[in-house]
Amino acid sequence: ARDLVVAIDGPSGSGKSTVARRVAASLGLRYLDTGAMYRAVTWWALEQGVDLADTERVAELARELPLEQGLDPRTEAVRVAGTDVAAAIRTSRISAAVSAVATNLGVRAELVARQQAVAREGGVVVEGRDITTVVAPDAPVRVLLTADERVRLSRRALEVHGSDDDTAVDATRDQVIRRDADDSTVASFHEAADGVDVIDSSILSLDETVDAVLKLVEARS
Ligand code: C5P
Repeated sequence: ARDLVVAIDGPSGSGKSTVARRVAASLGLRYLDTGAMYRAVTWWALEQGVDLADTERVAELARELPLEQGLDPRTEAVRVAGTDVAAAIRTSRISAAVSAVATNLGVRAELVARQQAVAREGGVVVEGRDITTVVAPDAPVRVLLTADERVRLSRRALEVHGSDDDTAVDATRDQVIRRDADDSTVASFHEAADGVDVIDSSILSLDETVDAVLKLVEARS
């Protein structure tokens, strides 16, 4: 149905963004990248020279965030106060700082409310860390996408450094392992909540993973 909500969670390097986009495009649904929202707050705070440890101030920034986020799964459009930040929010500077913002409960309250407003309209694949549990726990299709740590490191290294040799994997380790550990303190995405289907993509190709999600959609909706 066109008002379907598909919730997808997973750790970094699980491939969930790519998979979620492909699933949305294939079903003619919109796509909400919730990680981009936490990244946008982080970019905005650093841009304004706000100390990320100042939780009150950062939460206030989140509430004021002039975010324009495209929901077309085929393109990535993210603007903050009119500035195109689609590339800027993917830099390692933001990846290294984002957990400090994502563990701010005031920030989460604001962003979860914005995400729920989109989910309520329906017709969307929502992807992140707490979608199956907090943002859209009633979604008919809820998926936890996992992959072995080695596979996730290698995927992220390829994405960021264009190689998955030892040096590239080592350079990626902090970004993946430390960030997941920090993120785990506020959202549990390593184990599936009740009623959430797990898809382990470790030995699946991208196409196979997308197909597995589409099969679940067929079965559950
Ligand atoms: O998915 P992505 O790597 O872009 O997410 C960036 C960061 O945003 C995560 O490391 C996490 O700190 C935060 N996040 C979150 N809850 C979500 C989505 C992302 O805390 N639903």
